[in-house]
Amino acid sequence: MDTQDTTAAPAAIYSPKPVAVEEFVDGIRTLSEGLITKQKIYDFLITNEIRESDLQHYKHWLPDRHTRNKVFRNDMIEVMVICWPIGAITPLHTHNGQLGWMTMLEGKLVVENYHKVRCNAAENEQVVGFDCLAGATQIEMELIDTELAIPGGPINTVDKTQTIHRIKNLAEWNEPAVSLHIYSRPIDSCVVFDMDTQRCFRRDLKYDY
Ligand SMILES: [Fe+2]
Repeated sequence: MDTQDTTAAPAAIYSPKPVAVEEFVDGIRTLSEGLITKQKIYDFLITNEIRESDLQHYKHWLPDRHTRNKVFRNDMIEVMVICWPIGAITPLHTHNGQLGWMTMLEGKLVVENYHKVRCNAAENEQVVGFDCLAGATQIEMELIDTELAIPGGPINTVDKTQTIHRIKNLAEWNEPAVSLHIYSRPIDSCVVFDMDTQRCFRRDLKYDY
């Protein structure tokens, strides 16, 4: 199993061109009008990034949790900037069968990828339009791996096979973090797992700004 030792960060593997936010959004919108694949958005993200001067507009901070800042959304895709204060941690959550891509803009994050081994309400996954009704009272999860997300580093993804994870800005790093997230299709809720109490439930997702 990987550890969270992050002292040896890998060198940048890509260096996207800074572009105006309008150009970035136009590119995403155009891609969203065709067949959206994991590879197409990945290729876009390794060659384009929102220039720093435009990014400022989407950075808003709260002291105790991350903020979700909307850049663009249509029926097929959403783009947001997430600002992570020092020590911010998401609960363990699903991605509803979405495709998702995350690039780091500032600071770093740890992504822990999980696999649901079993739960006692698996029939609640047999529902149309989203991943699960939730409601289990016994849940077994397995940590698959841990990824370090850094600027220029590997683009972190969720997909139809890897859908459960938790993201952490470790307090010991003592550094805020900013990341860019693209999801397709957009979702307005996800399933959150509380492994201590062995409960899962749907949580609404909103933009903060
Ligand atoms: Fe997530």
